[in-house]
Amino acid sequence: MRQLYLFMKLALFFLASKQVEAFVNIPTSVRIQTLNQSSTSIRLSSSDEGGTFRVFAEYAWEKLLNSELGLSEDNIPVPKDLEKNTSEAKGPVPPGTKIDIEIKAAAPSDEESPLRLVRYALLETLTPSESGIKSIPQAIQVLNLVMFPNSKLPLPVLGMDLVTLPGNKNLIAIDFQPTAPPTDDGEQNYDNMFPNYLEKYEERLKELHERHVQNQQDLLPFGGEIPPQAKRFFSPYALWTRIQDDDDKSRDAFSIIQTEVFKAYCEYFDLYLEMMTDLAVQKLALDAEYDVKQGHVDYLNYRRDFDPARPMLTRLYGEDYAEEVISDVLFKEL
Ligand SMILES: *[C@@H]1O[C@H](CO)[C@@H](O)[C@H](O)[C@H]1NC(C)=O
Ligand SMILES: *[C@@H]1O[C@H](CO)[C@@H](O)[C@H](O)[C@H]1NC(C)=O
Repeated sequence: MRQLYLFMKLALFFLASKQVEAFVNIPTSVRIQTLNQSSTSIRLSSSDEGGTFRVFAEYAWEKLLNSELGLSEDNIPVPKDLEKNTSEAKGPVPPGTKIDIEIKAAAPSDEESPLRLVRYALLETLTPSESGIKSIPQAIQVLNLVMFPNSKLPLPVLGMDLVTLPGNKNLIAIDFQPTAPPTDDGEQNYDNMFPNYLEKYEERLKELHERHVQNQQDLLPFGGEIPPQAKRFFSPYALWTRIQDDDDKSRDAFSIIQTEVFKAYCEYFDLYLEMMTDLAVQKLALDAEYDVKQGHVDYLNYRRDFDPARPMLTRLYGEDYAEEVISDVLFKEL
């Protein structure tokens, strides 16, 4: 009875929550409406391991810090006041329900390293319960993790955006994001996504995409039209999907995220890390046929200007915090 009461209160909270918008790389034409959340679909996680995407973030972070890329958090300290923040969840929720944000960044000390920067923002909705702090998997849960290559190298950026919004909305965008400029006629320039030397990685990426995306369209359906300003930064190998529970409960978005999405995330990440490590170990200088730095500048500008995370971060942590995190850490100018 007590549990049920708790669920009802949570449901009311989500009903009351205003329109929320998707995070970062999710195409901005996506608008999330306030949804009528039924009380039965709200549940707490069974473990104390944090929010939905903490395990995703930790998987990547541990590998990064132990890689041959020489990454350290000390090389690019996140300002103390931005590292963490918390926002009291409003509305008739159990006392103490919070939406926490955590920001981490790491960089190599060597400026010639093929990787310039990796950083993430993790948002988790957590609530105290009799058996510890629990995550609410159907409330706001976000991971935005980006690996930026050295801006002298003609390489894609690894962009990972995993977003759960109240109302059983899940948006996932995982991609090797091209930085090459569009061709003269405005078409995407996939030919220059990888330099010749790295074609073997493109082949493997293609294989990952076939296995996780093309062959699993029932589980991870195409997320929909990508708006014109974003198209340039999406590759043909993107995992871009929106998933929801089915009304008859035959399909459980949360478990798809924990299984299929997690597997795909790990494999895309591993491949990118392997490519970077390979480049670092061989100390290869890559020739680009275009102004590489401009591609990176365009990418950062696009993410700052069109970032749908801004309204969410502003609403939760105030304008000062949101603006500083976006422009000083997440998408800092080159
Ligand atoms: C949600 O509830 C409101 C008010 O009860 C109703 O007008 C609206 O049509 C409902 N929306 C959906 C998607 O069911
Ligand atoms: C952290 O978030 C709160 C809102 O919960 C906000 O008032 C505060 O200014 C934020 N902290 C910083 C350092 O911006």
